Amino acid sequence: MVERTPDKGEVGGSIPPTPTLTSKFRSMKKQLKKLDAKIENLIRGEIKKLFKKDKSEWTLQHTLRVVYWMKKILEKEKGNERILIPAAYLHDIGYIETNVGKRKKMDKVYSRKFEHMKIGEKLCEKILSKFGTYFTKEEIARICKLVKTHDLPEFKKIKMSRELQLLWEADSLGAIDPTLKPTFSKGDIKKYLIHFKKIRAPLFKTKTGKRLLKKIYPQTLKNWLGTNQPKVIHELGL
Ligand SMILES: [Fe+2]
Repeated sequence: MVERTPDKGEVGGSIPPTPTLTSKFRSMKKQLKKLDAKIENLIRGEIKKLFKKDKSEWTLQHTLRVVYWMKKILEKEKGNERILIPAAYLHDIGYIETNVGKRKKMDKVYSRKFEHMKIGEKLCEKILSKFGTYFTKEEIARICKLVKTHDLPEFKKIKMSRELQLLWEADSLGAIDPTLKPTFSKGDIKKYLIHFKKIRAPLFKTKTGKRLLKKIYPQTLKNWLGTNQPKVIHELGL
């Protein structure tokens, strides 16, 4: 007896079950996590306006680099850009009301850390509410929670959510970005780099974040400390 070959689409046939629906669903899900370019421009405009009050010549430049690093991380790591890109723009917004001054002294900046997260959370909600219904209440709560907690791992051991982890890494890369000129005094630059090596660097977890850190950190040491200190550069290396 000749065995009948199943037709396409039948059980046992050659068409695999609904691959197009799965891929359509995936691309729809991805689309839902996209941040509209116009909204991003508006957020950037808002923070630029607000940071005019900042006297340090650091916070705005640093923030823009954090956004740059966040985008780099998201090219390789899974994450919701509707949450993470606004969080990168807004994470340090609280400094505008903390009187942190010109950021010459690390201790002064660190004495304002809790305050800047608390104020940042309030400003974050105010700014995001300006975009009508573009962000849901749940999204605003998630972004503001990131702003409220983004530096906590510097002070105590906490379990970081995936989103906090990605913000931590982008913020840390933006904190030692070799293209930025640090505002700390000479002695405090070294003090900050020791702190970075001890506290911030070991908390990198993603493959992409670790790779980017390894790539830029040696250049930062050279740019910030000068090349005539090979011993110090060696000690501070990761
Ligand atoms: Fe920051």
